Amino acid sequence: MEYSEKVMDHFMNPRNVGEIADASGVGQVGNAKCGDIMKVYLKIENGIVQDAKFKTFGCGAAVATSSMATELVKGKSVQDALTVTNKAVMEALDGLPPAKVHCSCLAEEALHAALWDYAEKNHIVIDGLKPPVEDVDERHHAE
Ligand code: FES
Repeated sequence: MEYSEKVMDHFMNPRNVGEIADASGVGQVGNAKCGDIMKVYLKIENGIVQDAKFKTFGCGAAVATSSMATELVKGKSVQDALTVTNKAVMEALDGLPPAKVHCSCLAEEALHAALWDYAEKNHIVIDGLKPPVEDVDERHHAE
């Protein structure tokens, strides 16, 4: 299995690992296939994602994709944050081996779940944001 240099870099030196104590939104999702869990914390001010952090029990690909996803989402409006999908993250990492695509779904789903949490707490609607799933398999069957 071949990993791109960017995947290796984000795996060896993951960005944004940790928690945000006073997070505006927190999202957690699991992957029953591998038993891994991902948690994402967002700090949002004036509708802009100021900070993002993650914690995972996931594999190297989960670490690399969450590292990239949290980097990509910083500075975006809560609406634009939806563009940080697993596909966008994989592109930014120059691809992932097919067997590891499901790992990248953890990052997307946990991120979107954190946005959902924020939206609920603040009584706002983020257009196109779907309710969170507990397991990535509920939304990404084929991957
Ligand atoms: Fe579980 Fe990658 S194998 S997240």
